[in-house]
Amino acid sequence: MATTPTTGSITSDYETQFAQSKALHERAKKVIPGGITHDGRHLHPFPPYVTHAQGAHKWDADGHELIDFAVGHGSLLFGHSDPDIVEAMRTQIGKGTHFSAGHTGEIEWAERIVSLVPSAEQVRFTSSGTESTLLAMRVARGYTGRNTILKFEGHFHGWQDYALKGEKPPFEKTSIPGIPNETLGTVAVVPNNELSMLEERLVQGDVAGVILEPSGGSWATIPLKEDFLKKLRALTEKYGVVLIFDEVITGFRWAPGGAQQRFGVTPDLTTMAKIVAGGMPGGAVAGKTDLMQMIAYRDDPEWNATKKVLQAGTYNGNPLAAAAGVACLTKVANPDVHAYCDKLAADIRAGMNEIFMEKGAAAFAWGESSVFHVALGMRPTNQVAGDLQKPAGISAEDLKTSGGSKLGQIFEIGMLLEGVHVFHAGGLLSTAHTDEDVARTLAAVATVTQRMQSEGLLT
Ligand SMILES: Cc1ncc(COP(=O)(O)O)c(C=O)c1O
Repeated sequence: MATTPTTGSITSDYETQFAQSKALHERAKKVIPGGITHDGRHLHPFPPYVTHAQGAHKWDADGHELIDFAVGHGSLLFGHSDPDIVEAMRTQIGKGTHFSAGHTGEIEWAERIVSLVPSAEQVRFTSSGTESTLLAMRVARGYTGRNTILKFEGHFHGWQDYALKGEKPPFEKTSIPGIPNETLGTVAVVPNNELSMLEERLVQGDVAGVILEPSGGSWATIPLKEDFLKKLRALTEKYGVVLIFDEVITGFRWAPGGAQQRFGVTPDLTTMAKIVAGGMPGGAVAGKTDLMQMIAYRDDPEWNATKKVLQAGTYNGNPLAAAAGVACLTKVANPDVHAYCDKLAADIRAGMNEIFMEKGAAAFAWGESSVFHVALGMRPTNQVAGDLQKPAGISAEDLKTSGGSKLGQIFEIGMLLEGVHVFHAGGLLSTAHTDEDVARTLAAVATVTQRMQSEGLLT
């Protein structure tokens, strides 16, 4: 899929072959700070600009066809413009896109979630994953009457004020630009997999809720120990603390019922977005009825004025997102979807590791379910020429920063030159990807590894 023969360095070839994207980025920077609308889309020297997409592929402004491993930041489990989801949305657009009132679409959407997700007895809709984690934290605080939210190093829960502490290394950093220290003081961060430190914190009695990505931080970048979730569940029950699984990525991807179904551990609250809305802007919080009832009005003015947890949002339960969500979740119920995507991701992880070992490159791929990550410039102590789920001997800091590192970014533009768009030196699979996409991706990895080695970037 690379259109022009390589001539210079990876970076100079990228500047030449992606000249339209470069020009669009210059134009964007005049009206959009940094030229990007999501910090996660930052790429040096500039990100690609895309004109259209279909299935597992998209096309950029310079006319390259790219295999897409970002798939709507993980939201497009069935690829771009899935015909069933498009048809449901097309029908809905003709009927209206906002009723400022209840509608059957949102009820059906909630019913689908309740039928799929083990912890979901009731559901409230939001417009994004960030709003979902904000609401779940508020419900946990309202329910317990306690203030502190406990989270784990490197886990991402969106960009709201309570979610960012301890997200990026250095994890112990205590100030974040734009967020009051008083707010940060209500959030406690603990290292991954350290149950005794966790219990020491819970015993203090001020923790309302514990939130985590059940895959481990940043969609399995920082793996959790095998029995961690079960032990965490037991500890939160012991101390009467609300356990929140942030399933914005893992929801409907790790299994039809998310990571909680795959690992057999049921949280009290679950936050969702992305796949839940079929790739449209939308999110949800679901959980046990007694917790979710904190948001409901009662026939009791005293309760409504002093105890009820507030939630609003113009686009909550939006009819268009509901139509996409229902169509998507109908397809998600089939476990063959997950088996297929998991197999392709495992083939990519194993194929990449074989290439890295064969070329003697200090690099490895890892991940679980239908995702993969790549780290360059380091080797785990359990490096293999096959599938790797939990790399050993690499710190959480190094795992977390590998995708956005200088080497990670050069790998990303090198892969773009070969017609593959990886996301933070990683990716997520969809049912639209094929074995041929996997083969092309692995051929691209071999070429980019070779180029990085000959440029002296990778040993
Ligand atoms: C685990 C997790 N939680 C929350 C969010 C925030 O979701 P959104 O971008 O929809 O606000 C993300 C986004 O990628 C995420 O991965």
